[in-house]
Amino acid sequence: MRNRKKKNGSNRLENLSTLILTGDDIKPDFDGVYDEIRPLRLEIGCGKGDFITGVSVSEPDYNYIAVERISDVALSAVEKYACSRGLGTLDYHGGWRGPDGTVYKGEKWDIPVKMRGNVRFFIGDAAAFLGIAPRGCFDRIYANFSDPWPKSRHESRRLTHPGFLEKYSGLLAPGGQLRIKTDNDGLFEYTLESLTSSGWKILFSTFDLHSPETDQIVRESNVVTEYEKRFTEQGVKIKAVFAAPPVD
Ligand SMILES: C[S@@+](CC[C@H](N)C(=O)[O-])C[C@H]1O[C@@H](n2cnc3c(N)ncnc32)[C@H](O)[C@@H]1O
Repeated sequence: MRNRKKKNGSNRLENLSTLILTGDDIKPDFDGVYDEIRPLRLEIGCGKGDFITGVSVSEPDYNYIAVERISDVALSAVEKYACSRGLGTLDYHGGWRGPDGTVYKGEKWDIPVKMRGNVRFFIGDAAAFLGIAPRGCFDRIYANFSDPWPKSRHESRRLTHPGFLEKYSGLLAPGGQLRIKTDNDGLFEYTLESLTSSGWKILFSTFDLHSPETDQIVRESNVVTEYEKRFTEQGVKIKAVFAAPPVD
């Protein structure tokens, strides 16, 4: 993803750091992280945050964690989410202006937990996060428009490589699902093969998510991502698959 270096990026992240998880927050039930315990959902590679911001409102009865490894991209997502929650906006003169007019410039705004809403961000590589997340903690894992890594020597980096599927399997609660969307035919074909050969059950799949022939509930509950919007405008068909991990 192309992203120009953000001005004062680290100060801006510090302003909203109560929305960002640290290693200490990753514990059973994410105790104290959210205002209420709700089933937890994960998005890997959230980009600039359109999806997580949208789904956190369209499906509010869940808590969410959005993982993004590029900090300037994550900053866009955190600020977009904070704005959408009425937590203020970027101040014209620099810093973050909270809803009561206070401007935070490089210092942390200790947002009361009740105001933080149901999304938290983890800035780092998915592999690192998946390695420390508690077993069975997620009700759903989303990977939207993940990098296709087309060269076979990079296969293990694809987020639907059997190595990743095994990690997701350990992190999903009973009844949990993995949901993938992509524009990329090669990655989609690879994903279907990888899921099948790893014993996952395909619950739903489509080569054209936005077609009127696709299941209406799936279409109407779909939250569009930045990449999905861009590819759809270019006439590229969006592929999607929902799958459940093998039962031991
Ligand atoms: C192609 S973009 C898609 C962004 C967004 N999900 C969308 O659909 O518009 C992929 C995003 O995933 C992030 N990403 C890729 N691999 C990742 C990994 N292993 N861990 C965390 N983030 C990752 C990239 O930095 C990028 O922001």
